[in-house]
Amino acid sequence: MDRPIAYDKLAREDRFVRMRTRDVANAKIEQGMPPFPDLSSEASMRDRIHGILVGEMQAMEGAGRSVYDFPDAPWEFTLDMARQVWDESRHVETYLGLLDHLGGYVGEFPETTLLWRCACAEDAAARVAGVNRGLEGLACDVFNQLIHIARKMGDPVIERSVDYVLADEITHVRMGSRWLNELTRGDAERRRRAIEFQDSIDERFNLGGQRQDGHHEVVPISIAKDARRLAGFTDEEIERLVKSTQRSQVY
Ligand SMILES: [Fe+2]
Ligand SMILES: [Fe+2]
Repeated sequence: MDRPIAYDKLAREDRFVRMRTRDVANAKIEQGMPPFPDLSSEASMRDRIHGILVGEMQAMEGAGRSVYDFPDAPWEFTLDMARQVWDESRHVETYLGLLDHLGGYVGEFPETTLLWRCACAEDAAARVAGVNRGLEGLACDVFNQLIHIARKMGDPVIERSVDYVLADEITHVRMGSRWLNELTRGDAERRRRAIEFQDSIDERFNLGGQRQDGHHEVVPISIAKDARRLAGFTDEEIERLVKSTQRSQVY
């Protein structure tokens, strides 16, 4: 197997449509739509669920890649990444079911590969910081919001399904917290670089500035502070994340 695997080489059935993130956002703006699904309509909800579905696939592929890429990492690290592959594969099935539940289908919306490209960081510590803590931390915020909206809509299928997935994601963020610490023990420079990579992801992947500090009823996507604390985030880290969401955002 070659490494690294280019983002456009991921194996997909023909029904998946791949586009650059920026092109998707621009196409939506040109059509007078918000660049990120605001969950105000059924189509918008399907768009969000579809986006999560392809994210789960890439999370599965990224964790699988981490099993392979770091043969010298501690055995328990490899085991955690293998466990994550298994978890993410169940999440893919869950979101396929939810897409079906909403009357959607695979390929109804394009797939972007931003997540996969973050999973290509060369250093294992940077990868778990960026993917497990950065992106899966973002997943906790997004899932928390979905659960809240599903409850308001009176849709227990979405509410409970996403709640099950959220429980796994908290575990994945915890894994990231653990391995960031263990892999960089005694190497302050490696730790600094890994955290810098995570910070850059936290700043870029902010869903157009929708993610903010505040209650569900007040902000579009509330930072899931309780889930993040469960996942090993310190109060200081949460505070730093809140500050980063207050700056201008790209994605
Ligand atoms: Fe997942
Ligand atoms: Fe995950």
